[in-house]
Amino acid sequence: MQPPFAPFPMMRHRRLKSSAALRKLAQENALGINDLIWPVFIRSGVNLREPIASMPGVDRLSVDLVVKAAEMAAGLGIPAICLFPYTDMSLRTLDCAEAWNPDNLTNRAIRAIKAAVPQIAVMTDVALDPYNALGHDGLVRGGVILNDETLEALVKQALAQADAGADIIGPSDMMDGRIGAIRRALESAGHQNVAIMSYAAKYASAFYGPFRDAVGASATLVGDKTTYQMNPANSDEALALVRRDLAEGADMVMVKPGMPYLDVVQRVKEAFGAPTFAYQVSGEYAMIKAAALNGWIDGERAMLESLMAFRRAGCDGVLTYFAIEAAQAIKAGRG
Ligand code: PBG
Repeated sequence: MQPPFAPFPMMRHRRLKSSAALRKLAQENALGINDLIWPVFIRSGVNLREPIASMPGVDRLSVDLVVKAAEMAAGLGIPAICLFPYTDMSLRTLDCAEAWNPDNLTNRAIRAIKAAVPQIAVMTDVALDPYNALGHDGLVRGGVILNDETLEALVKQALAQADAGADIIGPSDMMDGRIGAIRRALESAGHQNVAIMSYAAKYASAFYGPFRDAVGASATLVGDKTTYQMNPANSDEALALVRRDLAEGADMVMVKPGMPYLDVVQRVKEAFGAPTFAYQVSGEYAMIKAAALNGWIDGERAMLESLMAFRRAGCDGVLTYFAIEAAQAIKAGRG
């Protein structure tokens, strides 16, 4: 639906690029601090900050420090923080019971953040991989990732998070039927306003490598996740999964990874018009950071350009490890 432009030279596309003011007027999309969700890694202990080698600038934080981080994020106007636990190796078992322990690391962090910074929304991860001795998102028996048995575990995990005060439950496990099972359980437990952001179109991706280092799953994972995560060659399937998750009660849907899958974001947003998010995952962050640290690209400009690309593709918001840096740049007028 292009306007009926006059031919050159009556129409010159360079006119609206000729000053900063005209460029701003003609800008179609915007990136705001409201569009950012900040994923953070948590660990046990007190006053501990532990760098993650494959994610320069990202640390695992003890609960007291993640509360401070949440305060900083809220001060910048970031609407949500998303928690990922590094579970002590001694707590990783085949039954994954630590996942629904009301006093596990994630649930302690949720309570501490909601007590100190109630205005920031806390999002959680629902999946068994940080608690599983075999590193998979589901229960494993005889080398098979079990679907229906895993649903019961995920429901217990999600309920424990909601009881602790989580605002947004983020099932990232890719088992069939989990959104409906979790939604029904939340309603029965009186958690009517706990939102679900479904990792609906989550691909079996090489870009998760640094994340698995961060949560300690690189060491535990046996095999790969191709029997439950999506084939990177597919996008019709993404629409089917998003449709299914919305029908089961998801409030928001996510595409993951982000940048290599912006075509999927665009199709999902066009097809359903639902609140649509993308996860700029650890490998995407690591690539931009590594190139910037080598002086090969301008890190801040690459960050902002990548985040704008999510908005242009149709994202309502982005999970990004750059959230703090991006918010600071936007606040300073450089966004
Ligand atoms: C697993 C989970 C993963 C990520 C979020 N939740 C990795 C995986 O599926 O192995 C990846 C996030 C990132 O790479 O930043 N439940």
